[in-house]
Amino acid sequence: MPFPEGFLWGGATAANQCEGAFDEGGKGLSTADVMTVGGRGKARLTTKDGIDPTLYYPSHTAIDHYHHMAEDIALFGEMGWTCYRFSIAWTRIFPHGDELEPNEEGLAFYDRLFDELERWGIQPLVTISHFETPLGLVRKFGSWESRDMVDCYLRFARTLFERYRGRCRLWLTFNEINNMSTNPWVAAGVDSADEGVRARAAYHEFLASAQAVALAHQIDPENRVGLMYNGHLSYPATCDPSDVIGTMRFEHQMMYYCDVMCRGYYPGYQLRKFDREGIVLPEQPGDAEALRAGTVDFVSFSYYLTHVTGQKTSGILKGLQGIQTSYDNPYLEKSAWGWGVDPQGLRFLCNELYDRYQLPVMVVENGLGAVDEVVVEDGVERIHDDYRIDYLRKHIEQLRLAIEEDGVDVMGYTSWGPIDIIAASTGEMSKRYGFIYVDVDDEGNGSFRRLKKDSFEWYKRVCRTNGACLA
Ligand code: BG6
Repeated sequence: MPFPEGFLWGGATAANQCEGAFDEGGKGLSTADVMTVGGRGKARLTTKDGIDPTLYYPSHTAIDHYHHMAEDIALFGEMGWTCYRFSIAWTRIFPHGDELEPNEEGLAFYDRLFDELERWGIQPLVTISHFETPLGLVRKFGSWESRDMVDCYLRFARTLFERYRGRCRLWLTFNEINNMSTNPWVAAGVDSADEGVRARAAYHEFLASAQAVALAHQIDPENRVGLMYNGHLSYPATCDPSDVIGTMRFEHQMMYYCDVMCRGYYPGYQLRKFDREGIVLPEQPGDAEALRAGTVDFVSFSYYLTHVTGQKTSGILKGLQGIQTSYDNPYLEKSAWGWGVDPQGLRFLCNELYDRYQLPVMVVENGLGAVDEVVVEDGVERIHDDYRIDYLRKHIEQLRLAIEEDGVDVMGYTSWGPIDIIAASTGEMSKRYGFIYVDVDDEGNGSFRRLKKDSFEWYKRVCRTNGACLA
């Protein structure tokens, strides 16, 4: 059986992980541009005030998508995609973040990208901010703890909504907004372990997001704007009610972001937590109305792994994917990077989000980061990535069950890193997710040639049959 008519199939990337050309076309520096390979979060402490010429920064060249864009989109088109999720680098458009006028050369690059997508009949889904806060704003305002960020973000968002009016109708305001609780530096340029700082920074992001939603609707009533949640499904370690309560607390840390963005107000559990911790939100007159007027149209999320939590789980999660929870799941196999592979969890999470908000959901990231090997057979280079096909097939099967058996309204599926790109958590190239292999190593060396993996033909069948053929 095919998926519902109009279901969106495609892939997802982020500008800082694929474009490279970090200082071309008038682009300014973002937080991603000062993170080195191998634990990008840590590197910030020594490098955030500038570039050290002795170090390698993966975002500077990435896979050079900036210069291979038409070739890359043609490969996506060949697979029969109907949707491409990508982000627009804030610092290509506003190099320092606080300019009053946008950088035309930066916009021209995305004009060409939209042209290519139209040529292939691929619908764009744009993430306005994906893990790359302008360094200029971090230096000037200390990033999102300051309310000044809201105006800068809205100027950026308005520029995009006006420029791409009629060409793009699907938008996401912030990638994995709940990463403010797990890795605020990578997510939002916030360099603090203080919960109050994170709460205030998130408050300003909520405000910016809500105002952007209202603006998008005002500029084009056909715009649909979603939130993007780092899918943190968690199972209780045992059926001991104390573990169940522990898991509830863990989920509250994450779900409060979605609650604010879908409902337009803070949930009671989070307000009470702030009270207990002496955290005061920087609320000003009119904010409550703005939050209510800018609730999202749909809920998108990334899904890679699940957690096991309980009464031993305490404090704020550490690490990009929050994998340092206190328990292991003996029922799951792990990826080479230790992420528990859990296809059924995807069905479960789709249900949870849909039941909670009754809004359409969309899987905008999912995939297996793995080491791929290029082998030469009869003089032809091949990459046999059956492990990736297996992972994706199992997840898409569960998505089908969520739709067919459970009645969840799922808009689409964009797999993560459909062409190999640098990893967000580590900056590595060797952690590959793609259907398309890119010949670059962890130090940025290579020919940058693109090669189709076995999964390329497989995903092409999936997209071209609207999911009827997963074999
Ligand atoms: C998500 C991010 O957290 O996970 C992506 O939105 C990221 O930017 C993806 O690339 C996978 O993580 P990693 O570290 O394997 O690239």
